[in-house]
Amino acid sequence: MSDPIRIVEVGPRDGLQNEKTPIATETKLAFIAALAAAGIREVEATSFVSPKWIPQLADANDLWRQLPTGPLYSALVPNLAGLERALSVGVERMALFTAASDAFTERNIRMTVDQSLTVFAEVASRFRQAKPNGWIRGYVSTAFECPYAGRIPISQVIEVTGRLIDIGVNEVSIGDTIGVAAPIEVRGLTTALLREFPSERIAMHFHDTNGLAVANVVEAIDRGIRCFDASAGGLGGCPYAPGASGNLATEDLVYLLERSGWHTGIDLDELSRASLIVLEALGRPPAAKAQVAQLASASGTSPT
Ligand code: COA
Ligand code: ZN
Repeated sequence: MSDPIRIVEVGPRDGLQNEKTPIATETKLAFIAALAAAGIREVEATSFVSPKWIPQLADANDLWRQLPTGPLYSALVPNLAGLERALSVGVERMALFTAASDAFTERNIRMTVDQSLTVFAEVASRFRQAKPNGWIRGYVSTAFECPYAGRIPISQVIEVTGRLIDIGVNEVSIGDTIGVAAPIEVRGLTTALLREFPSERIAMHFHDTNGLAVANVVEAIDRGIRCFDASAGGLGGCPYAPGASGNLATEDLVYLLERSGWHTGIDLDELSRASLIVLEALGRPPAAKAQVAQLASASGTSPT
């Protein structure tokens, strides 16, 4: 339990990009400040994507300029136009996002996987020129199954991951975008990935559509993965992944890790309250198990 496990909080981005109810920039900033106060150290704050495609994050420039100090912040960048915007507000950590299947990337970013990697090579090289000490993450979505192309062979994920590392990303986050994988599949994919790449290059990104996200994390930890994405309150989903429900809830992840003896430095009570800020704005009750349990025990009522 001595090597730390990193948590990348993706709620402000993955959690909010698919919500119909508009969330005010001030509410997002209050949410992020509360996450920081709870001990979250890495936050994916927004996306510099086309506001026509993702209006929920159209306030990226404005939001970025007002982020509270403390955590390390990153943002999604899909193309050179997004890079210009990101650099104009001082982004030092960016995430490039592709997938294991053409069918998904064509809907998500209107490029094939190949085309996206060509665009990203240029985005990454310009980013490095501007920010020699910057940090780049790459995403491989639909790594287990694509809603349009079906099951994905492990070799395809290894290939895209390798190509992202070749263009200079520091870390690749492997996504079960529609939340269908079971632990045995996680074992197969993470074992293969860790044969090819060092553990510090790989993160896992689970969605909890079928309730297996925590089980998948346990399996990935056993194989040697030490970085996980999660979304406060279990918010989230991708607009181009029909049927995908929320991300692995950060509360569930923190509970699992703390209870298993991995110190996270995150206060579960404060985290659960941070998520309430967004849930209340969305008019939705808490649903993540560890959040519900924590809020109930803090208020002295037993969870129903
Ligand atoms: N930021 C702001 N505006 C952008 C932009 C960016 N990063 N990239 C393109 N645009 C604008 C262009 O200026 C153009 O505007 P105009 O119509 O006023 O001239 C318009 O968007 C179309 O540009 P184009 O390059 O043809 O983009 P596209 O329509 O092929 O869309 C993406 C490609 C990548 C910009 C778009 O698909 C996108 O933003 N996808 C993000 C999806 C996402 O975030 N998914 C969830 C994450 S998993
Ligand atoms: Zn996701």
